[in-house]
Amino acid sequence: MRAEAAPAVAEPAFPDNFLWGVSTAAFQIEGATTMDGRAPSIWDAFCERPGKVAGGDTGEPGADHYRRMPADVELMGELGVGAYRFSIAWPRVRPDGADVNPAGLDFYERLVDTLLNAGITPWPTLYHWDLPQALEEHGGWRNRDTAYRFAEYASAVLERLGDRVESWTTLNEPWCSAFLGYGSGRHAPGRTEPRAAVAATHHLLLAHGLATAVIREQAPRAAAGVTLNLFPVNVADPDDPADVEMGRRIDGLQNRIFLDPLLHGGYPEDVLGDLAPFGLPELIAPGDLEIIGAPLDMLGINYYRDLNVSAKPDERSGRPSEWVGAETVSFPKRGLPQTDSGWDINAGELTGLLLRLHEEYPRLPLYITENGAAFPDRLTAEGTIEDTDRVAFIDAHLRAAHAAIERGVDLRGYFHWSLLDNFEWAEGYAKRFGLVHVDFNTQRRTPKASASWYSRVMKDNGLRQESDDRAR
Ligand code: FCB
Repeated sequence: MRAEAAPAVAEPAFPDNFLWGVSTAAFQIEGATTMDGRAPSIWDAFCERPGKVAGGDTGEPGADHYRRMPADVELMGELGVGAYRFSIAWPRVRPDGADVNPAGLDFYERLVDTLLNAGITPWPTLYHWDLPQALEEHGGWRNRDTAYRFAEYASAVLERLGDRVESWTTLNEPWCSAFLGYGSGRHAPGRTEPRAAVAATHHLLLAHGLATAVIREQAPRAAAGVTLNLFPVNVADPDDPADVEMGRRIDGLQNRIFLDPLLHGGYPEDVLGDLAPFGLPELIAPGDLEIIGAPLDMLGINYYRDLNVSAKPDERSGRPSEWVGAETVSFPKRGLPQTDSGWDINAGELTGLLLRLHEEYPRLPLYITENGAAFPDRLTAEGTIEDTDRVAFIDAHLRAAHAAIERGVDLRGYFHWSLLDNFEWAEGYAKRFGLVHVDFNTQRRTPKASASWYSRVMKDNGLRQESDDRAR
């Protein structure tokens, strides 16, 4: 049986200079939420609201990375990590959204210098969802002014680190910030206002564009990009026109609403029409699309799963929804294997996604900035974690990425989510995504089997046949 399942390419080698990395985000690992002048973010406030985060978990202790940073960088060095994607916490740098807090910048300067000394490329993201709560109190991403505050924050970061960092990412997954934060309320700030979700979308895009201009000005030789969570959209019944129409709509709301303004100079006509009842056209001020569509050096893609879309109601329908204007959408189950998050595992779809980006938005270098899975990792009696399911997951996704490279896609790197087990947003600490297990009581780090496996992949710049066998 194994022989039949063997991949067509036995030993995919990745291109020379392919960047191998790991990803984290500030609020998910740092802890130390009140240290050195940090003020609360929308996630701190959200965690205090009963029932919003599983287990009542909060940003403390995180993985205590703020205090353990040097040891964590050392661990990355031991694994042979080439690049480290982390995020900078706005509420440390401009805690109330206004004045700069030098102590907050000190931490990221130490982090960047420690990485550089270890030969690891720093790959910072300016915004991974932790808006200062003070700005939310002025409307947060509903308020156009927040985009300008973001550019000021970016400028303070670039002033300190612009001479050392060669690659900047403005936003991580603006879809989540806008539609989960302001649409369904599943994420901070927990609002359920469709018009606010649409306003947040436009203001996040504007913030990206303004920050990109800051990067160009203050670090002219650095690369600038953005990371999107993109979902291949599969239509449940391609013979049903209602399902096909829902597929178009969801692809628009999830993917093209960001891709087209960033890379094609404007919102797609169909999305503008779908969201006209929610005020999208009126949000666009003269000059906005030029700012948002300024050329980029790279696109980061976070890929976890595809969507199987239907217009026929099922148990998901009728919930308060992030699918603004398309609340009757459903996602029928297909019987695919799933991760601990309940997400279908469908690695092959990654190839199609990369090919689509290559064809529809050509000449743009691509990076997979997140890919990974939660599994119910268990410590054995010997204290190891034999997470063969995670190894299989990564192996399959790397093969899918490699297949796209073979077909001409300019994919330049892969960052695994995540280095460490961490705070998985509304799911709290129960969902473990790390290559390295974290005991949140003792903060003890234990590399899982996947860590040594991935370490070898990075070293080999590719996959070996024997790793396939282990993965299956
Ligand atoms: C992504 C987020 C990241 C992490 C993974 C599992 O949507 O960017 O912070 O939570 O999901």
